[in-house]
Amino acid sequence: MAGEQIRLLIVEDVPQVASHVRAMLQAQHQIKMLDVVTSGDRALTAVTEMKPDVVIVDALLQGRVGGQQVAQQIRQAEPGVGVIMLTVPQNPVKESPERGIDAVLTMPFTGFDLTTVVRKVGEARSTEAARSNSLVVTLFSPKGGVGRTTLAYNLAVALGQQHRVCLVDGSLQFSDLRGLLRVPAVAPSIVNLPTDRIREQDLADVTWRDPSGIDILLAPPRVEMAEMVTTRDIEKALSLLRQLYDFVIIDTRAALSEDVLVYLDSADLILQVLTYDSMAIRGLAMAAETFAAIGYPATKLATILNRADAAGGFDRSDVEQALGSRIDFEIVSDGRLVLAANNEGIAFVSSSPESQIAKDVGQVANALAAHRSARSPALAGR
Ligand SMILES: Nc1ncnc2c1ncn2[C@@H]1O[C@H](COP(=O)(O)OP(=O)(O)OP(=O)(O)O)[C@@H](O)[C@H]1O
Ligand SMILES: [Mg+2]
Repeated sequence: MAGEQIRLLIVEDVPQVASHVRAMLQAQHQIKMLDVVTSGDRALTAVTEMKPDVVIVDALLQGRVGGQQVAQQIRQAEPGVGVIMLTVPQNPVKESPERGIDAVLTMPFTGFDLTTVVRKVGEARSTEAARSNSLVVTLFSPKGGVGRTTLAYNLAVALGQQHRVCLVDGSLQFSDLRGLLRVPAVAPSIVNLPTDRIREQDLADVTWRDPSGIDILLAPPRVEMAEMVTTRDIEKALSLLRQLYDFVIIDTRAALSEDVLVYLDSADLILQVLTYDSMAIRGLAMAAETFAAIGYPATKLATILNRADAAGGFDRSDVEQALGSRIDFEIVSDGRLVLAANNEGIAFVSSSPESQIAKDVGQVANALAAHRSARSPALAGR
């Protein structure tokens, strides 16, 4: 995906080699060197904690745990991480993905050799990750009040009837989902995740189980705490959630800010939400230019027209023309039902499944389930 950095960890006990690699990577931004681990027996812990995309391991590591063993350990414990074995001509190493060696880099090498092999292995890994069974869907609108939170919650509950779903409260400052669901202030949030050492169990400890059965990763309980959440924390939490859930549905705040961009970058699909409102339409048209500049493919975007029966003088083709793309889904207005359900903190898709609005949301949920199946052929028909 455009703009995505490859996170690199190095397991190297010769300081000169480590600094050589560091120097070669200095002039570029596509590969980010996280750290150098100087001993084989600490490599696996570092990998599970830092979750790099790619690890370079020196085949000639001294000490109890050698290079080949490190590669095998990483492959077994973290199969999604790419491994490059670094060696010298006198000690030839064979590429062998089953034994954890995705590529071999032989000294001496140029900066070009280094970045090429890291990119190759990193890209192969992200293609592999894209094949993971999880679908990450981010609801987005540059204009507030268009229904993102309402739709995110109801979509998550609709999908939760048959799938493992985590809803992420991406309105980091005002935590819309806390308001909607009247979660107690003491309920944990993304801010309770340990920094830089997030593991699966940590996530299980901080997600809130809604009575509807879905899990929710809440935003912090107080506005100023939003600043404590870094984009790194968000990235790490999302990459773990992807491994644990069939669907990760993300509600965002009305902005195209750094935090929201992480939710958008991480998404497999962005559901843009708008209403027949000139400001919402204009906002999305402007965002479309930004998305094109970032390099999001058109297939990453879908559009929901909420309150589609409240046209306010527009018609659908006007909106599509202004957006430069088609509207994929329409959701009717149902002020009474939505307000009552939201005020009670329940999902109308469960309390009134026969209502038109629940059916409309159900259609979006079905389309998402089909999209997920289409991405992984093994799931077809489920
Ligand atoms: N289809 C609908 N029919 C009727 N009312 C709706 C519909 N969708 C949303 N609403 C109402 O619109 C208001 C805004 O909805 P919501 O809070 O979900 O939007 P949002 O985009 O998350 O807003 P914010 O910018 O505050 O995050 C709420 O009062 C909600 O009840
Ligand atoms: Mg909201």
